[in-house]
Amino acid sequence: MQPENQPVPTTDERLAALTEDEKIQLVSGNGMWRTNSVPRLDVASIVMADGPNGLRYSREQAADGPGAGADFADFISLVTRRGEAAPVQRGPEPATCFPTASTVGTSWDPRLARELGNAFAAECRSFGVGVLLGPGMNIRRTPLAGRTSEYYSEDPLLTGAMVTGVTRGLQERGVGACIKHFAANNSEIERTSMDSVIDERALRDIYLRAFERVVRDAEPWMVMSSYNRLNGLQAAQHPWLLTQVLRDEWGYDGLVVSDWHGITDRPASVLAGNDLDMPESAQRIARLRAAVESGAVPGAALDRSAGRVLRLVDRVTAHAGEPAPFDTDAHHALATRIARAGTVLLANNGVLPLDADATTDALVLGTGATEPVIQGFGSARMTPTRVDVPLTEIGRRTGGPVRHLAGVPAGEHTGTERQAALDEATAAAKTCGVAIVFAHTPQNSDGENADRADLALEAGYDELIAAVAAVAPRTVVVLTVPDAVTMPWLPDVDAVLVPFYAGQGMGSAVASLLYGEHAPAGKLTTTFPRRIADIPAFLGYPGEGGRHVYVEGSLVGYRGYDERDIAPLFPFGFGLSYTTFALSDVTADRATLSDGDSVAVSVRVRNTGSRTGAEVVQIYAQAEHPRVRSGPRELVGFARVELSPGEERTVTIPVAADDLAHWDVTRARRVLSDGPVRLLVGTSSRDLPHAVTVLARTDVPRWKPLRRDTAPAAALGNPVARRAVAGLLAGRLDVDAETADGLLQECRRSFVNVFDTLANRFRLVLDEAEIAQVIAEVADEEAGRAGR
Ligand code: BGC
Repeated sequence: MQPENQPVPTTDERLAALTEDEKIQLVSGNGMWRTNSVPRLDVASIVMADGPNGLRYSREQAADGPGAGADFADFISLVTRRGEAAPVQRGPEPATCFPTASTVGTSWDPRLARELGNAFAAECRSFGVGVLLGPGMNIRRTPLAGRTSEYYSEDPLLTGAMVTGVTRGLQERGVGACIKHFAANNSEIERTSMDSVIDERALRDIYLRAFERVVRDAEPWMVMSSYNRLNGLQAAQHPWLLTQVLRDEWGYDGLVVSDWHGITDRPASVLAGNDLDMPESAQRIARLRAAVESGAVPGAALDRSAGRVLRLVDRVTAHAGEPAPFDTDAHHALATRIARAGTVLLANNGVLPLDADATTDALVLGTGATEPVIQGFGSARMTPTRVDVPLTEIGRRTGGPVRHLAGVPAGEHTGTERQAALDEATAAAKTCGVAIVFAHTPQNSDGENADRADLALEAGYDELIAAVAAVAPRTVVVLTVPDAVTMPWLPDVDAVLVPFYAGQGMGSAVASLLYGEHAPAGKLTTTFPRRIADIPAFLGYPGEGGRHVYVEGSLVGYRGYDERDIAPLFPFGFGLSYTTFALSDVTADRATLSDGDSVAVSVRVRNTGSRTGAEVVQIYAQAEHPRVRSGPRELVGFARVELSPGEERTVTIPVAADDLAHWDVTRARRVLSDGPVRLLVGTSSRDLPHAVTVLARTDVPRWKPLRRDTAPAAALGNPVARRAVAGLLAGRLDVDAETADGLLQECRRSFVNVFDTLANRFRLVLDEAEIAQVIAEVADEEAGRAGR
């Protein structure tokens, strides 16, 4: 312990005072959820806990000391058990089960995300948790992926904005966020060995882009590396990913933690920049110790990671106060508010909102009406403080008990039992006023460690909905699902409401929307396909031979549907309301946009209906002369605005030039497509009736940079290269520059690279060093022109 009246040592002083063994302990887990303490230097042990939709904390986690809570079998069963048998975790403490990212995302409301982060922080503090293992932020490349409900969207701009909100909300209340899983963890098939093979532009523009935004805008205290390989290397051992991109390019100064047991080669992971290894593993510690002793891991690398752990511990302890209980009622109310804000109304022929008086003869169907499906399976699954039951909540609105039938038996059952349940439901549906069917995806197959097999609902539900819709006067379907499902019965039902996995307040949120206490305003954050084969990732998914090639490149989600002109079942950004809105007067505050600029787009929005509601104004960019193929339009800005009937407001949405740019693999930087760019404005990716045009300008030329393999025609198209190559030729042939240029032009049709073409055509032997120098000079001159 620090003697009294001594100045508190700085992080660097403590780092210098640590023994080698203490440093190794510090970068290694202490049991399942803690870091190691160093009592003689007052370095505390901090606690981490899952997860992204609510705190999963058990008293065991407070246990300190070697091996605490580190039972490997427990960990595996926690992640992999499902259904009725799923133990949430031994001795979990109730905490608020907030909506999962699928529902938070569909609110399109970063301010609400920030409030959520504040509430997470209060719950973490009440249990002494210093870092929350969330939010998750991988791109939802396919709706089949097992963890889609833990992630926000198929779009990086939206994902980045929402996760920035949650991260700020957590950290401004003194609890660290751990954004995860870095990077390209987009499927659960062979989750710790599969290689995500992604071309560089797709990686930069889609898969890394949201992380980049959050690192820059919200400075998360922790980043969790992912289980998968990325282009051949384990993500936790990837120097390019964890050091070059994350730290050198983006300036990240926080800590990188492994996913749990995600490291196979601990020394390599330290060298790559994966600082903390979780959870405790005697084997990995021994390997690191041996590598430090042999010098394979230099002292400086160990110091770097140990220093980052010390800084994290300092951040956490600086904010740690006395644990105070959180307000369970207020947090339940927030969970309900977010569930309401994120619920998406996909179809409605006027049946909704229901009139409580006229619909006392409602028939509620589905096991989810009494045992609500509110979260996914795996490490994120936690114990709610309470759960609003949809049937009860509907009864509250109608003022009396409501008839309920399962319609599909829960759990194991025979075909005869299923038929009997279906017959009973259909008979009841004939005499009801409205049938409300709660349906979900299979509850025993997907989640963490397993993708969905298809886009169908749990067996029996498609038949139930179709049979009920055929006889009931009105049929409303409520889908508690992680992501897109197919809807073979869609033309026959009257309304479809999708809360996704909406947490413990789902029951009251849905009832309040069904009965019109509020108007739905959620908008899809992923595209709902008509069939699996329409998903842009289809041809490459789920990979084979250990390699998962992302064949669609950056044409992920709506970009891929739009580029191929494939009609989705429901498009990205789509969602209905009970009121109507008119958009008008779209203007931009500047006519031109250069690198580093931002244009403010203003849109007047008016609620033209008779109810209070919210609309999400969306802006998509469409370059007239795109440099790359990235889909016909891409989301570049949005704002959610709530208006009472007749009210109108002008919203101003900033659009950054950097969000119009794309990664140029030949120049290793983001580059604007110069020329006119239409900023399309509307309320879904396929409903964009307004536009304003700005002129994008950049000094980065369109011509190709000169490389050793550049063909003559391309070299001639690059004036800097043309002059330099002609200069080289002039020197070797002893002719003037103009003559050399003429000779170069004569070589235009050669498909052999320009240097070898000149050598063969003019019987020269060119020196490789001289060629390299010409290439370097051209690159330097271009960089100077582009202001770099
Ligand atoms: C999951 C992480 C989680 C960790 C700890 C892993 O299996 O991928 O998201 O934070 O377990 O429970």
